[in-house]
Amino acid sequence: MLSDVLLVSAPGKVILHGEHAVVHGKVALAVALNLRTFLQLQPHSSGKVSLNLPNIGIKRAWDVARLQLLDMSFLEQGDPTSPILEKLEKLKEVADFPEDCTDHERLAVLAFLYLYLCICRKQRWRAEDLELINKWAFQGEKVIHGNPSGVDNAVSTWGGALRYQQGKISSLKRPPALKILLINTKVPRSTKALVLNVRNRLLKFPKIVAPLLTSINAISLECERVLEEMATAVPAPEHYLALEELIDMNQHHLNALGVGHTSLDQLCQVTMAHGLHSKLTGAGGGGCGITLLRPDLTGPEVEAVKQALTGCGFDCWETSIGAPGVSVHTAASLDAPVWQALDGLCAGQWASSS
Ligand code: MEV
Repeated sequence: MLSDVLLVSAPGKVILHGEHAVVHGKVALAVALNLRTFLQLQPHSSGKVSLNLPNIGIKRAWDVARLQLLDMSFLEQGDPTSPILEKLEKLKEVADFPEDCTDHERLAVLAFLYLYLCICRKQRWRAEDLELINKWAFQGEKVIHGNPSGVDNAVSTWGGALRYQQGKISSLKRPPALKILLINTKVPRSTKALVLNVRNRLLKFPKIVAPLLTSINAISLECERVLEEMATAVPAPEHYLALEELIDMNQHHLNALGVGHTSLDQLCQVTMAHGLHSKLTGAGGGGCGITLLRPDLTGPEVEAVKQALTGCGFDCWETSIGAPGVSVHTAASLDAPVWQALDGLCAGQWASSS
C-alpha cells in the first residue's frame, strides 16, 4: 500500500581473513555484525523523491516529473545493470551537485540515483502494456464521443509531450516544463456534437474551413519547433512571445470553426487584462481553457489573475506540462510493474553502521 512505510535493514560486516586476496580469487572469511544499517522507504505526495542520509549529513530531493522527462537512454548502454564510467559522468549532471559537496557525499548520492533510476526504468510499463492500455482507453473514448482522434487517450497513456497524427505518435524529447493555468469555465458541452459541427462546417464551406485546418496544423508544427528549441537552448523571452502568438492565432481559428463560447471569450479577456494569453483546450463550446504563465511572472501576479478568473465563477489550477503517463500507485508487490510507486517513495533514514 502506498501509505505503508517500509523499514528494512541489513547487517554491517567485517572480514576476518582474506581481504585483498579475495580480489585475486583467494578465500575470504566474512561475518555479519549485530550492527545494522536501516533503510526506511516512505511514500509521500510532494512529487519529489527525497534522499536523507543522516549519518553523513545528506539531504537531497529531485522532482520526479523532471527526472522522468530527462533523456536517460544512456543508462541502457552496454550491460544495463553495469554503472560504467560514461553513465556515471552523465548522471552527475542529473544529480546537480552543489559546489561544496565532498567526494564522499557525491558517491553516496550517485549510488542512490543510479539504483533508483535503473530500477524505475526496469519497473516501467512494457511497451506492449502501454499499447493495450491505450487501445482500451480509445474504446472508452469511442463510447463517449463517437469518432475520437485518439490523441487524448494517447497522451494520457504515454504522458510527456506527444506529436500525434492519424495514430502516428512521436514524443518530444525534453519538453520544457512550461507553467500554465488550466481553467474550467464550467459550461457543459458535448465533444461529440462539437466535433460533428466542425465536420458539417467543413462540408458546407470547404474552401474556407480547410485552410483554417491547414493553418492550425502549421501552428502545431511551429509550436513543436519552438518547444524543441527551448529544450536545446536556454528558453528566451522570444520563445514565450512566439508561444503566446501561436495561442492567440489558434484561438481565433477555433472561433472561426465555431467551437468558441462567450465564457471562453471572457476567459481570454480577463487573462489578457493581466497581459496573459489563453485559448480553449479540447472540444471548446465552454469546457476548459489554458493560459500560458511566462517565467517572468511573480507569485502575486499569478495570484491576481487566478482571483480574477475565480471571480468569474471559473475553477482554476496552476500546473505544468509534460507529466508522466499512466502510472501505478501501489507497492503491493515489488515484482509487479510498480515503477511509478517507487517514484513516490522517499528513501530515507539510513543509519549506517560502517
Ligand atoms: C477533445 O479533447 C479533442 C478533440 O480534438 C476531439 C478528438 O481529438 O478526438 C476535439
